[in-house]
Amino acid sequence: MKINENYKTLETSYLFSQIRTRREAYEAAHPDQKVLSLGIGDVTLPLAKPVVDAFARAVEEMGQASTFRGYGPEQGYDFLREKIQAYYQRFGVELPLDAIFVSDGAKSDIGNLLDLFDTDNTVLIPDPVYPVYRDTNQMAGRSILYMAACLENQFLPMPDPGQRADIIYLCSPNNPTGAVYSREQLQKWVDYAREQDAVILFDAAYESFVQDPSLPHSIYEIPGAKECAIEVCSLSKTAGFTGTRCGYTVVPSELVRGGLSLQAMWLRRQTTKFNGVSYPVQRAAAAVFTPEGMEACRQAVRQYQSNALLMHQALESMGIWHTGGTNSPYLWMRCPEGKSSWEFFQFLLEQAQVVGTPGSGFGQNGEGFFRLTAFGTPEDTAEAMERIRKALG
Ligand code: MLT
Repeated sequence: MKINENYKTLETSYLFSQIRTRREAYEAAHPDQKVLSLGIGDVTLPLAKPVVDAFARAVEEMGQASTFRGYGPEQGYDFLREKIQAYYQRFGVELPLDAIFVSDGAKSDIGNLLDLFDTDNTVLIPDPVYPVYRDTNQMAGRSILYMAACLENQFLPMPDPGQRADIIYLCSPNNPTGAVYSREQLQKWVDYAREQDAVILFDAAYESFVQDPSLPHSIYEIPGAKECAIEVCSLSKTAGFTGTRCGYTVVPSELVRGGLSLQAMWLRRQTTKFNGVSYPVQRAAAAVFTPEGMEACRQAVRQYQSNALLMHQALESMGIWHTGGTNSPYLWMRCPEGKSSWEFFQFLLEQAQVVGTPGSGFGQNGEGFFRLTAFGTPEDTAEAMERIRKALG
């Protein structure tokens, strides 16, 4: 038999597994020290009350013969898809229910969507970027072109008309830099993708952090996007679902390539390989979109945003260059004293017992940078910043 040799091209372990291993090794050697994490973007606030109530009610229903449910629709229950549809209307985006597919989170769909595309396609990926885009394409052996996200372009690479691409990844608000594309910039991407007959995979996982009303939450706010973009979104950061698992992917019917409807292909793929998200989780997710659920989520986002402000102020007072943290839960800082990303990671772990994410883990252009997340508790965030200040003396 032949294994998938492409796995040989990958780093031995996934970025966040690598960080966890280093943290656990340090904790095992220093059991008396409390390590604070500003590393993986994992939320710390619990699920909101209306969400928990809906979750619990649905679990009860599953225990009664009269309300028990078995297999649900692979693309999600209408009660949730209708809520997602109404949520998009807030941004002026009209989506038929058929375009909305409920998932167990953005990460799995980002990988699974590649089933729709031949491995011969050329992929265009920003660098630095969420490592899942790169790793999933490497696993399939696709040829990858990188576009530099750097200081010169404010971490928002724009299309190069001389460059050919078939699949384009965009993440806005961006993980890891926190940069957000304007409408005009996204319009250029949409125009480029349509010219190239390419498909944009748009990751909107952080859209609920957009505060500036002039900035788009969804790529479908941009004219022409339905003909060239798939959008992946998640309730992980919006509603604290990192452990509960629920997201959604939008595949518009206007998206046709090679004579096939990508929506029909995705439906075929999902009905064959996926049995949907559990009923209680979908009920919990639907509660996120009720007025009480939305208000609770807004409050949570506000708390994370106030952490980001505190972090920004702390870095400012230390004279450390940084960006992000305004319309995003991530702050992207330059490693002090010319340290490499992993050197700074190790320095912070050993000298401050603070975990962050090395910028180089997101790509070559991330070398010399470091990502901090605002998803901690206010107390831990304040303490972590104080420890960083002391460590840097
Ligand atoms: C991150 O820290 O980049 C994210 O939390 C990872 C993820 O969403 O899978």
